[in-house]
Formats: sequence, C-alpha cells, structure tokens
Amino acid sequence: MKIPFNSEQILINGKWQNAENNKTLDVINPSNGELLCKIGRGSFNDIDCAVVAAQDALNGVWGNYSAMERGRVITKIGEKILEYIDVLTELESLDVGKPTKQARADAIAMARYMEFYGGSADKVHGHTIPYMDGYTVFTLREPHGVTGHIIPWNYPMQITGRCVGGALAMGNTCVLKPAEDACLTALMFARIAEEAGLPKGVLNVVTGLGIEAGAALSSHPGIHHISFTGSVGIGKLIQKAAGNNIVPVTLELGGKSPQIIFDDADLDAALPFLVNGGIQNAGQTCSAGTRILIQRGVYEKVIKMMCSKISLLKVGSAIDDLDLGPLISPKQKIVVERYIAHGVESGLKIAAQGLISDDCPSAGCYVVPTLFRDVPPDHKLAQEEIFGPIQVAIPFDTEEEAVNLANGTEFGLVTGVWTRDGSRQLRIAKAIKAGQIFINNYGAGGGVELPFGGVGKSGFGREKGFEALYGFSVLKTIAAYHG
Ligand code: NAI
Ligand code: MG
Repeated sequence: MKIPFNSEQILINGKWQNAENNKTLDVINPSNGELLCKIGRGSFNDIDCAVVAAQDALNGVWGNYSAMERGRVITKIGEKILEYIDVLTELESLDVGKPTKQARADAIAMARYMEFYGGSADKVHGHTIPYMDGYTVFTLREPHGVTGHIIPWNYPMQITGRCVGGALAMGNTCVLKPAEDACLTALMFARIAEEAGLPKGVLNVVTGLGIEAGAALSSHPGIHHISFTGSVGIGKLIQKAAGNNIVPVTLELGGKSPQIIFDDADLDAALPFLVNGGIQNAGQTCSAGTRILIQRGVYEKVIKMMCSKISLLKVGSAIDDLDLGPLISPKQKIVVERYIAHGVESGLKIAAQGLISDDCPSAGCYVVPTLFRDVPPDHKLAQEEIFGPIQVAIPFDTEEEAVNLANGTEFGLVTGVWTRDGSRQLRIAKAIKAGQIFINNYGAGGGVELPFGGVGKSGFGREKGFEALYGFSVLKTIAAYHG
C-alpha cells in the first residue's frame, strides 16, 4: 500500500506542514522490519504553534459553536471514519502490526467513540442547588480550554477516539501527540476530521519523539488539561510537568489484571476470555487479563483447557490475520523475550506455547504466546506488566486468598471474576481494588460506554463512557442573589 498522504506533514492550525527544519523519523513495519515511510519529528516550537492555534480556535469559531453543533460535527467524523475504514485498517496493520481483523475492530471502535461523544455533547447538564432564601444557584459545565493528548501505540485509534472525542464534545480544543511508533492513523483521523468539517485549529496533530514533542506538550503553560496513556515511568513525568502548571491530568498506566476462576465457574464460557483476554493484540493491552487465578479444585482442568487452546494459537504478519501479529518494535520484542527467559531461568514451568508461522520474516517482531503455571504470586512475572503475550497461572484455595492475590500488585485496572455464586460475585466485586470488574466475562480494551481507568499505579481519572465528560470539563457554580 502506498500511504495515501504525505506522512511527513504535521497539522497545525488547519495547515499540513513539515516539522521544524524538515526533521523526520523512520516508520518501521513490525511485520517485516522494513522501512514503511517517514513521519515528522515535531519540535518544541511546533508544539508551541499548535497550542497557540488551539487557543485561537477556542477564542474563535469553536468557542462559539453550540453543544448541538459540536455534537453534529463529531458525529459526522464518526460516519466518515466508517467510509475510510479500509484505509484506516490497512494503515494500522502496516504501522503497528495488528492483524487485519483487530485493526478493523479498532477503526470501528474509533467511529463508535465519535458516535457516542457526538451524541452526548448536548446532554451534559449542570444542576440547580437549593441555597439560602433569595438565591438561585446553578452549575455550568465548561471546557478546560486547550487539551493535550499523549497517546500510546497499542490501540492508537481507540485511544485517540476516546480522548479527542470526549474533549471535543465538551468544547475543548486539542493538541494530539501520537506515539512515535503509531502515527499513521492519527494523521488519517485528522484528515477525516477536516473533511467532516471540524474547523481549523480545533485539532492539531504533532508527531515526534516523547522526549521532544511529548515533553514540550506536557510542560506547555498554554495547556489546560492533559490525558496520557502509557507507562508508569512517563506517567510520573507527565504528572510532574502538569504539576508545575497546576493543570489536571488523566493517567491511564496499564496494569497486571487478574482473572479469577472459582470451582463453580462455567469453564467452557470462561475459556475464550481467559486466553483472549491475555493474548489479544499480542498482549499489548493495558487491561490484558494476564494473571489467571484458579481455585484448586479446577486448577488442573483449567490449565489443561487453556493449554489446548494456547497451543493452537498462531502468530504471523499482520496481513496473514492470524491470532497474533508481531509486537510493536524490536525493543518491545527484546523486553518480552527477557521476561520469558527470566521465567525459565528462575525455574518456572511453561504450560503451553503457541506457534510462530514458518514464513514470518526474520526481521519481524514475533514473540510466542506463553503460559507459565504454578507461578509464585510475588514472582517478577506475576507482578510486572509485561506487555506481551505472556500469562501466569496461580492456584488459590479460599475466596479470601483470591481477593488478596487479586489485590496483590501495585496496579488496579481491571479484574474478571468467574463464578455462578451471585453473592460471591458481588462480595468480590466490592473487595477488589480496580477501576473495572467483569463478572462472567472479560472486556480487555472494549466498551466505549463503560467508564475506564485505574487505582494505584494504574493511574487515575476516568476515560470512556459518559463519566469521561466530567473529566474533560470544569464545573462552575453561579450563585445569584435576587432577594
Ligand atoms: P511510553 O510511556 O514511553 O510512551 C507513551 C507515550 O508517551 C508516547 O506517545 C511517547 O511518545 C510519550 N512519551 C515518552 N516519553 C515522554 C516524555 N518524556 N514526555 C512526554 N511524553 C512522552 O511507553 P513505551 O516506552 O512506548 O512502552 C513501554 C511500556 O509502557 C510498555 O511495555 C507497557 O508496559 C507500557 N505501556 C502501557 C500502555 C497502556 O495502555 N497503559 C501503552 C503503552 C505502553
Ligand atoms: Mg511502526
């Protein structure tokens, strides 16, 4: 595929232009290690211009749009995304190595975010508050202003959709800094938004390095809210940068999410979720359900069922559209392979592994899906986010033990609970420290309507769903005395 636009150009104030000094970065196709194209390497000054443009748009046409008008243009972007779905799917597959079906699902999800947030733009209401005699008090929900969005590479379309969709719905303008490994669909999204009639300057896209464009954006005094999804380490830097300017941040920093299976669970229903929740997107999912906590009575049976499924999993290039594609980059492949090697060297038992297709290009970033069994709960592989297709199985005896294990990492993003006992479902749901609990299902990555975010090192703030709109807006209280 020829990239259907000049990928070296960034978008500032409605103008597609080269980054300062025409600097670029190489884009590598992780399926074969080949150079795909180049993207602009945005600078501090490029970010500065983008922030100024976003502020101008806020002071100008976008600030005067009614909520209904904002909703209509966001909805229209969603419709246009579906018109361009084949292009978006192919771009994503080439750029990040997603198997075609998964890339397509992400494009559909991005359209759905626009549909959801387009529809909700005019439905966020303030309140009236009973106060002292002679007063009328009410609240307004207003935009923060210029919002910064620093996006990772694992679900570029979904995360762009949830961040930008919510921010625009509440009347903010946006400066978007996609991950250096995943810029093509963000650039295409901006072109689609333009075509749908989004006024210039409302969405600016500056590609580039995290330490350059990303750091410039997160520390810019003209930014009024930052949403960040990515690693804990960079999340800390973002929070510090936002702290210097006293602006709110939403941090979504991944996790080590458990799926808990009790003896009475419907194991056949659970099986696809147990496996897919961990290996979907080659395990590069913040909410991947990678810690499989299994009650002793069904431990061997569940391991056996998972092994038979995992051993059939196939890994191949994005266009082959198998169960797993490559990881995002050679760097990520090394990181994940080190975890596997560490597991083996420390004496962990591999229960099952999938297969890498023979015809995979040797320069591709392929890693074999792997299930380790009987993993001590404090083992590195049971505690750290791996971001690859690696799962660990841990046995437990009692409900109390299951809860302690589930809560036994520094993260708290998602938990899955598999049991037919209704009282236990709710007891566990309350006892677990996490932002989302799934009972008898598991929703890694999905759920446009469902508020999403973590506790602990998984971050704070809620994205997705209607709840996100409160984060993308600020409450003003108006107290009128009329006697
Ligand atoms: P990262 O946290 O470095 O990158 C995420 C985004 O932050 C990218 O857009 C990057 O350009 C930007 N960034 C990097 N340094 C920055 C800085 N100093 N200031 C501002 N922005 C900056 O994540 P990376 O290195 O790509 O992946 C490493 C690990 O992070 C993964 O193995 C995984 O564990 C975790 N991760 C979690 C994600 C999630 O969904 N929660 C998504 C991506 C990575
Ligand atoms: Mg790439």
